[in-house]
Amino acid sequence: MPAALKLGFTSFARIRGVLIVFCGENLKFGPATRKALLPVEQLVRRAAAADRFAGKSGSTLDIVAPQGLDVPRLVVVGTGKESEFKPRDIVKFGGIAMGKLPGAAGQGTIFAEFGAGALKPKQAADLAMGMRLRAYSFDRYKTRRKEGEERADKVEINVACAAPAAAQTAWASAAAITDGVVLARDLINEPANVLYPIEFARRLSSLSKLGVAVDVLDVAAMKKLGMGALLGVGQGSAHDPRVVVMRWNGGKRGAEPLAFIGKGVCFDTGGISIKSAQGMEDMKGDMAGAACVVGLMHALAARKAKVNAVGAIGLVENMPDGKAYRPGDILKTMSGQTIEVINTDAEGRLVLADVLHYVNKRFKPKFMINLATLTGAIIVALGQEYAGLFSNDDKLVERLTKAGEATGERVWHMPLGPEYDKLIDSKFADMKNTGGRWAGSITAAQLLQRFVGKTPWAHLDIAGTALGSPQTDINKSWSSGWGVRLLDRLVEDHYER
Ligand code: BES
Ligand code: MN
Ligand code: ZN
Repeated sequence: MPAALKLGFTSFARIRGVLIVFCGENLKFGPATRKALLPVEQLVRRAAAADRFAGKSGSTLDIVAPQGLDVPRLVVVGTGKESEFKPRDIVKFGGIAMGKLPGAAGQGTIFAEFGAGALKPKQAADLAMGMRLRAYSFDRYKTRRKEGEERADKVEINVACAAPAAAQTAWASAAAITDGVVLARDLINEPANVLYPIEFARRLSSLSKLGVAVDVLDVAAMKKLGMGALLGVGQGSAHDPRVVVMRWNGGKRGAEPLAFIGKGVCFDTGGISIKSAQGMEDMKGDMAGAACVVGLMHALAARKAKVNAVGAIGLVENMPDGKAYRPGDILKTMSGQTIEVINTDAEGRLVLADVLHYVNKRFKPKFMINLATLTGAIIVALGQEYAGLFSNDDKLVERLTKAGEATGERVWHMPLGPEYDKLIDSKFADMKNTGGRWAGSITAAQLLQRFVGKTPWAHLDIAGTALGSPQTDINKSWSSGWGVRLLDRLVEDHYER
């Protein structure tokens, strides 16, 4: 799969390189596809029969050097019954198509047409999004190729469609979102020796170029604000913590902003309550919530979303050290509430407690949505298919659930309640940072809730969805960049003027 993928939009008349087309069930081709395949109609039918290919959703037919057509290869991708389509399927079909492009191929044309006819410009752009997401690979630290691996350095793909100019315009927005996902993936895949808090913050200057205001709070600033919980987590690391606030003002002047908050633990050893060695390397991705917020801010700014949005991330490294915080320590948060540390590995909620309070107080947002790889317990409950959704606001729950279905980044509503809240009462402080083995994801959410006041708020526990992502048609990388498309969709559907 190529690293450098150049995407363009043309008419159906222009075919270059490998040709990829779609068909519905029973080999149902759209009119432009039928016309292009006219010289090889019989060949395609015979090949399909020989391969028992009938156009079932996701199935493919591969014909090398088809006689009568001037292409090195023809790939037919089945889309199945069109009545069973979900919007997210178009992105998926783009991914499937990209997956069928041989590594050595430098050029391709994909017909943006299904059995029922040409795709709308926005759908053609979704197809392109799927292709780019599929083509992504994180290989900047690989200094050599596998033996025998053929790979084109540059690949040029044209999406052939009914209205190329309109599709190109739609792609401007879709590309902004895609780039946001890719940015999130890059940050999450990056190892912790490279991406520590200050380096993470430094990389966000790329957002300034898009018109995002980026403010960085250093340790002195955080001390002044009284962020004792976040600073407590970070005090055992040689790398100083940072809080970064990103602001995009594309909405009405003075309109209250939407706020997105991310857990950015650049590496989580567990601290003094150290984790076991097995799989600890995955904890370089404990900043996936922060990466998603960054990817989202990129998407909103790059597509000039008509909304005011704030992104805030708490960047720390959780290390065991002579200076590290310990079990039994009592930390004073910026809100004034105190937290007894029972387990230094329950650090994410401490970081978020201060950032949530800070954002709420400073920006008085319309709502706050935080993302965090917060608990192993959410993986036990939901696996890798759904993120846990905790909220004090039914409207947010409904909207996030719908956006999840539309994008395929799905969320499952989990309970909150005063009964669970009791589990984090502390003998010595206002609360403790763990509530025991039972309902581990819920007690973590209960702690967060104590720092959001009456502001509508949702917490997404993405420990299962953001890391070691299942391999799908649109993601072959360790991290899928989960959440960028979900939240962009939420904003687009409900909050742009
Ligand atoms: N970052 C972890 C949660 C996690 C686990 C994320 C696996 C991704 C994959 C978090 O900081 C953590 O360690 N949580 C503890 C909390 C416990 C000590 C109450 C956990 O889930 O075990
Ligand atoms: Mn931890
Ligand atoms: Zn963590």
